[in-house]
Amino acid sequence: MKTLNIASIPGDGVGKEIMPEAIRVLEKVAQVHGGLQFKFEEFPYSCDYYLKHGAMMPEDGMDRLSQFDSVFLGAVGDASKVPDHISLWGLLLKIRQEFQQEINIRPAKLLKGINSKLSNPKDFDIIVVRENSEGEYSSIGGRIFHDDNEIAIQNNVFSKRATKQAMNIAFDLASKRKGLVTSATKSNGIFHAMPFWDEIFDEIASKHPNIKSESKHIDALAAYFITHPHELDVVVGSNLFGDILSDVGAAIMGSIGIAPSANLNLNGKYPSMFEPVHGSAPDIVGKGIANPIGQIWTAKMLLEFNGEANIAEHLLKVIEAVTADGFMTPDLGGKYKMTEVTDEIIKRLD
Ligand code: NAI
Ligand code: MG
Repeated sequence: MKTLNIASIPGDGVGKEIMPEAIRVLEKVAQVHGGLQFKFEEFPYSCDYYLKHGAMMPEDGMDRLSQFDSVFLGAVGDASKVPDHISLWGLLLKIRQEFQQEINIRPAKLLKGINSKLSNPKDFDIIVVRENSEGEYSSIGGRIFHDDNEIAIQNNVFSKRATKQAMNIAFDLASKRKGLVTSATKSNGIFHAMPFWDEIFDEIASKHPNIKSESKHIDALAAYFITHPHELDVVVGSNLFGDILSDVGAAIMGSIGIAPSANLNLNGKYPSMFEPVHGSAPDIVGKGIANPIGQIWTAKMLLEFNGEANIAEHLLKVIEAVTADGFMTPDLGGKYKMTEVTDEIIKRLD
């Protein structure tokens, strides 16, 4: 019997609602497939935890989380209680950074039955591989002077190691898919970092003669996501470009409420973390209408990256069968409650 030890952090807002739904699904998956079991331990780290204890997690919080195979996160943030930069840097970004989760994988795929925000999309299935640790998201720089003389300087950081790592993952994924890697660049405008990025991309591409590769400028590529999503396969981007493109991907899928993501630790020293792309959705909290599919599709990625690719694929097929038959929450134009959608997924896993 294989046991996966999972630290679950529901977090804030709808995170607390959708996490139990995804756990119900995973328990059912284990029951149906046999040979696999989950041990969940829940951690209450959240804005409420902050109000009680003055921190988003205790001092030994990271040590405790490090004992698990994976971290499964709902959503973090409740600006009515704690400013966002404190709650996100104290939990989500802290885990991404300290657990060296240097790659963020975000699929964007049209599921049957779901109306994309595009009027007439062809079938698309994209994976965005985002460098998750450096690039434009660095704290190097500073601000000087005051009033109208104030100056802000922000430095980008691109290392050959992390850039190569993201691109290698992209080519590896493409070799198991349609065999195309598109690189998000802006070497016509960003003088140092992006020509560096392009050189590394060309070098890695030359080592994969069986995989097609192309570079597109980020502005044109963002438009291409809207006009030709069906022509894309794996897209690799820096931290900022990958972040933006994956939100475009979530939008053309139909709702941010279904978009999943994986933050991968590749050196094996720490767990990876799986979380939906969306936040705590304060506008719909408590109404029972949060879409559980983002968290459940994220559970599919948790299975996939814990060596259970077949079971993961089966779960995604079941999710798609449920959307195809119209079982959807209001964000997708449906009339069903969160628990009804989950119940339908569980029923069909049998
Ligand atoms: P959000 O993703 O929470 O909400 C944006 C819109 O999408 C809202 O209209 C919301 O109702 C809808 N939505 C989100 N999840 C949904 C779901 N499962 N089902 C149906 N509709 C859903 O983004 P927002 O409003 O900018 O941020 C709210 C809080 O979440 C903030 O505190 C923010 O910092 C935090 N946040 C946390 C993230 C994380 O934990 N990874 C990511 C993004 C935001
Ligand atoms: Mg984002």
